Amino acid sequence: MRLRKIKGAKEEIKAHQDYIQDIKDVRRESDATHVVLPKRFDSKKPLHIEIGMGKGQFIHTLAKKHPEINYIGIERFDSVIYRALEKMIAEPLENLFLLRMDATYINAIFDDIKVDRIYLNFSDPWPKVRHEKRRLTHPNFLVQYEALLQKGGTLELKTDNELLFSYSKEQIENYPMNVIFESKDLHQEEMENVMTEFEEKFAKEGKHIYKITAKFKEDNHG
Ligand SMILES: C[S@@+](CC[C@H](N)C(=O)[O-])C[C@H]1O[C@@H](n2cnc3c(N)ncnc32)[C@H](O)[C@@H]1O
Repeated sequence: MRLRKIKGAKEEIKAHQDYIQDIKDVRRESDATHVVLPKRFDSKKPLHIEIGMGKGQFIHTLAKKHPEINYIGIERFDSVIYRALEKMIAEPLENLFLLRMDATYINAIFDDIKVDRIYLNFSDPWPKVRHEKRRLTHPNFLVQYEALLQKGGTLELKTDNELLFSYSKEQIENYPMNVIFESKDLHQEEMENVMTEFEEKFAKEGKHIYKITAKFKEDNHG
């Protein structure tokens, strides 16, 4: 999802460093700079992150509903994350922080920070085989998520894209991880569900929403 460039987005990001950190894009993992969590975050709370949050509707809604959890929303485009920043400016939340960064080296960027849950919502499907490595459920990402997640932490993904769903399921099962929940029509399930921007759009078009929740096997953790 690439928005038209918003004039002044970079400056607004710089001006609100208590809400958002801009992590420089690098070509090599060893050049990655680190996340600095805001002092207002209570370190006793669990930490949940969304990678590729877009304009932030999902994570902002969740953070409002669950003050007992700390949240980080990650998005790589200035003009997109700017919309999430606007939500924070309009309604600041103690337990939400935004990161403008590319997730390619997420584990190096998070350094020794561990998280309890990773959300991947309507990730770009990258249907061409030559772009497979960009899919956020490619094994290069799963290996990083394993290091990033606390023991027993979960990976939760939602998509409208059947190919990304079946690709992700295959990668998750082969890793190996355990799938602990799966639905091919999430909106028919009786469970709490916070909708993302893309989810609302696809649901209006009558598309089914797929969901997988998975955990790394404990014995992988050594
Ligand atoms: C299709 S949009 C979905 C946005 C939102 N999660 C939703 O469901 O409404 C996917 C978003 O993920 C972001 N994204 C994709 N790959 C990323 C990466 N490697 N690092 C950070 N953000 C990424 C894109 O810029 C885009 O805004």
